[in-house]
Amino acid sequence: MSKKSILSLMRPTGKLHLGHYLGVLTNWVKLQEDETFNCFYGIADWHALTTKFDETDSLKQNTKEVLLDWLAVGIDPNISTVYLQSLIPETAKLHIYLSMITPMNWAERDPTLKDMVKIMKEKGSNEDSLSYGLIGYPILMSADILTFNAEYVPVGIDQVAHIEITRDIARRFNNIYKTDLLIEPKPKLTEIPLLKGLDGNKMGKSFHNDIKISDTEEDTTKKIMTAITDRSRLRKTDLGHPDECEVVFPYWKIFGSNDEIKEIEDNCKKGLIGCADCKRKLACKLNQKMAPIREKRNHYENNPNELKEILIEGSKKARVKAKEVLEQVEEKVMVFR
Ligand code: TRP
Ligand code: SF4
Repeated sequence: MSKKSILSLMRPTGKLHLGHYLGVLTNWVKLQEDETFNCFYGIADWHALTTKFDETDSLKQNTKEVLLDWLAVGIDPNISTVYLQSLIPETAKLHIYLSMITPMNWAERDPTLKDMVKIMKEKGSNEDSLSYGLIGYPILMSADILTFNAEYVPVGIDQVAHIEITRDIARRFNNIYKTDLLIEPKPKLTEIPLLKGLDGNKMGKSFHNDIKISDTEEDTTKKIMTAITDRSRLRKTDLGHPDECEVVFPYWKIFGSNDEIKEIEDNCKKGLIGCADCKRKLACKLNQKMAPIREKRNHYENNPNELKEILIEGSKKARVKAKEVLEQVEEKVMVFR
């Protein structure tokens, strides 16, 4: 029996943070270790262009950063197919075919379009100047998934509406062309261990409250020292409330061993450890965990040719599958070949 395909892409927005690592990438790594799956992981540089068409200088660098982060945390290009969206022309062709059969209002009902509109308004555009490409975002995403006939798409809850559109488009294609060629993909929701930002809000690049996978030990320690703690605790000897410590104690629960968590909890409650000490210890712990990851990242950063080769070879491998699917699609739509 052939393996089921798993596929997901990420827009190249720059260096990834620990929220991406724990919320998304650990899951991707776990999926690649499951031998019943064939994993495709892509960098969606075309999707980045839907809003950042005028920021192409940073696009290349951001693509590199994302790839470095992926490899660092253990995405293995010998197991998974790691590729760049724009190196798969079959996806662009499929996008055209799908765009012919997708009603406008399917694209327009996409709930994330509102967020996109907001981004564009911040850039000074108005509703009427939204590009054709941006409205087509979910159709391009459908093309990503359907070019590889992926069964499962690991995504966050915010992307589920896109997968729904993909299913609708696949079904419509199959109906129109009287085939069962395109598989209706299912979202594979990741249980996200919500890692808060250092200020207690959602971790996000634009909130300046994140720790990057690529941060140095010094930067990590500095950042952890700014994290909020139990706000009612003013002096070291005040009794602490780990449950009301919004960031540092939850981080301990994620990164510490059971014994360490217990020890911090007890000492905090008894006023035997100060918050500064507690944070210094946490930073040490985190740096220890991140050390091998950062070492791997540095290796690839210092070997840009190897890095480039991985993306090019991965994309070549991806195209083999993409061509197979597209050939069958074109047989159905009877385009002259
Ligand atoms: N829209 C996705 C995001 O912003 C990125 C993406 C593009 C994607 N193509 C995809 C995700 C295909 C899954 C499958 O996160
Ligand atoms: Fe939070 Fe640690 Fe301070 Fe307790 S000692 S309140 S767990 S930072």
